[in-house]
Order: sequence, then structure tokens, then C-alpha cells
Amino acid sequence: MTRLATIGLIAGCLLLGMATPASAQVPEEESALAVNNCAPRGELRGNAENGKALHGEHCAECHGETGKTDIIVMHMDEPPKDESDPVYMKTLTDAFLYLAICQGGETVGRSIVMPAWGDYFSDQEIKDLVAHIRSFSGT
Ligand code: HEC
Repeated sequence: MTRLATIGLIAGCLLLGMATPASAQVPEEESALAVNNCAPRGELRGNAENGKALHGEHCAECHGETGKTDIIVMHMDEPPKDESDPVYMKTLTDAFLYLAICQGGETVGRSIVMPAWGDYFSDQEIKDLVAHIRSFSGT
């Protein structure tokens, strides 16, 4: 195969990857919702490094890269609170953070603008996000 054809093949694969629907993040049967119905179990702080990548892609638009909401997104009647504030973050348990991510804002008594991610992420990915969010405040 020529070099050019190889590059074309790689580019094609990348394009295909991009066309995959967002909901195909983890197979449905491996999602946190399917596996444990969003019940937080065991050690809730996973791999913060992996959580950082997920956060940058899916959460930072509303929560900011560092947990401080820097842009006021339209329709956010209740903007996300400052997750880099240790005083605030100490009032929240890891289980609450897990539930808020898995079940969404409304179920935990917060804004409905916060989406539910339980059918999108695996249990491990939610734990990775919890670990990363904790790193904003060092709590
Ligand atoms: C469309 C905007 C939006 C997106 C995207 C979003 N959130 Fe939120 N999030 C919110 C809002 C609004 C609240 C709740 C504000 C309130 O009622 O206090 C919230 C609350 C939370 C809370 C509860 C603790 C807190 O900060 O007060 C956690 C944890 C959280 N979000 C994590 C995430 C994670 C992780 C992602 C990405 C997987 C994410 N959010 C994506 C808007 C968003």
C-alpha cells in the first residue's frame, strides 16, 4: 500500500469515528444505569487523569475547565456552583457527586439543566469524573 493510501485510510477511520452517535460512548448494557442502576458502590474515586479528559469533552462547557463556571450559558437559571471552592465541596459526599452525574440534577434536587449521564458513561467513568472534580478543590 502506498503511503498516501495509508494516510487516506487513517483519515477515513477518523471521520467514521467522528460520525458515531454520541450515545455510543459505552455499549448500553455496560452503562452505569444498566449495570448498577446508578447506585454508588465501593471506592468512588477513580482515575482522575481519565476523568479530566472526559470532563474537558463533556462537562467543561458548563462547569469550566477548573470547576469554576466562567461562561454563563443561556437557560441556566441556576448556574453550576464553584467546584473549586473547598468550603462548598466539603458539604458534598462522593456518593452525591456520583448520583448527580449518573441521575442528573433534578433527581438530586438540583437544576434540571444538569443532564443525567448514567446511560452514557460506565460506572468506572463516573468514578473517574468524581476523582477529577475533587481535584479542583483538593477535598
Ligand atoms: C448543560 C450544562 C451542564 C453540563 C453539560 C454538565 N453540567 Fe453538571 N451541573 C449543571 C448545573 C446547572 C448544575 C446544578 C446547579 C445547581 O442547581 O446547583 C450542575 C451540577 C452538577 C453537580 C452537582 C455538584 C455541584 O457542582 O453543585 C455535579 C457533580 C456535576 N454537575 C457534574 C457534571 C459532570 C461530571 C458533567 C459532565 C459529564 C456535567 N456536570 C455536565 C450544568 C451542567
